[in-house]
Amino acid sequence: MKYRELGRTGWKVSEISFGAWAIGGAWGDVDDRESLAALHRAVDLGVNFFDTADVYGDGRSERLLARLRRERSEEIIVATKAGRRLDPHVAAGYNRENLSGFIDRSLQNLKTDALDLLQLHCPPTGVYYRPEVFAALDDFVKDGKIRFYGVSVENVEQGLKAIEYPGVQTVQIIFNMFRQRPAELFFGEARRKKVGILARVPLASGLLTGKLTAQSKFAADDHRAFNRHGEEFDRGETFSGVDYETGLQAVEELRSLMPAGMTMAQFALRWILMFDAVSCAIPGAKVTAQAEDNAHASDFPSLTDDTMRAIGEIYQRRIQPLVHQYW
Ligand SMILES: NC(=O)c1ccc[n+]([C@@H]2O[C@H](COP(=O)([O-])OP(=O)(O)OC[C@H]3O[C@@H](n4cnc5c(N)ncnc54)[C@H](OP(=O)(O)O)[C@@H]3O)[C@@H](O)[C@H]2O)c1
Repeated sequence: MKYRELGRTGWKVSEISFGAWAIGGAWGDVDDRESLAALHRAVDLGVNFFDTADVYGDGRSERLLARLRRERSEEIIVATKAGRRLDPHVAAGYNRENLSGFIDRSLQNLKTDALDLLQLHCPPTGVYYRPEVFAALDDFVKDGKIRFYGVSVENVEQGLKAIEYPGVQTVQIIFNMFRQRPAELFFGEARRKKVGILARVPLASGLLTGKLTAQSKFAADDHRAFNRHGEEFDRGETFSGVDYETGLQAVEELRSLMPAGMTMAQFALRWILMFDAVSCAIPGAKVTAQAEDNAHASDFPSLTDDTMRAIGEIYQRRIQPLVHQYW
């Protein structure tokens, strides 16, 4: 495993880290024993950074990470998120009192005195125009409730606005072979300000693993069954907003470019690691084999210029017209 600096935090995080949404639930049935085995395997392979949220399985994902930390001696950095417990989910809800309550609950779930990294959880755009929210976050750092804070954003514009606040250490954004716009302007700006980037949904919700087909079935409680058109949350979170059939066709073209010895998931992750501004990719894994497959993406050499160009061409021809200007 190779490590990269996470913005100005002083942490060196595994370039392949771990997204812990799926192990909380909302992706069909999960078994805690299997999830814990996957987490342990990731740590065995050098993963030291885990992304979760208070709402993933209503705290289940955070509690699994607390258990992982108890059972391991290695340093395990946990990034969690707050804001999605608000109902309605509106900008005014992101205030000092609510955030303080959410942090306290995450401290309990994670069984710790200070959160390593707290991220606002894709707040409405209006939050970025409320400096008092960021002042409250600065105070939580001073009080020792959180070590650092960052934001998870839906789109590039929110990311650009967020990094105007000097206390923002990280931005989590969707970035993968099917979501390339962040590399155009945003990455350069983030690097200039030494803001860490967490590339989320790196496998386009599994599409870029190459294992899905037109016949694939998803459980009724899996967002890949119920959120394809944004029925519950932003449609960009499901298959990166790419129409399923179009995505499958593009995957077949990408497959032909895959270097020998790599799985398709590793190819997709290695592509992300070609961008220096990215601190880490946070693929979601539910089982040990996935955690292993993903972690080993760090072992491969860089992709060639020809391969990068060919991937760019497939994106421009098949995907860009459908998604580029939305996020
Ligand atoms: N708003 C936000 O802040 C937000 C939103 C979305 C995600 N995230 C974060 O980003 C992380 C990653 O995104 P994601 O989980 O949505 O999507 P993803 O990483 O693109 O896809 C994850 C899914 O792909 C499948 N998979 C993973 N590794 C695999 C492998 N090696 N081979 C075959 N299949 C594999 C698994 O599902 P199956 O086995 O069921 O196919 C897994 O649940 C999340 O866990 C979460 O931490 C944050």
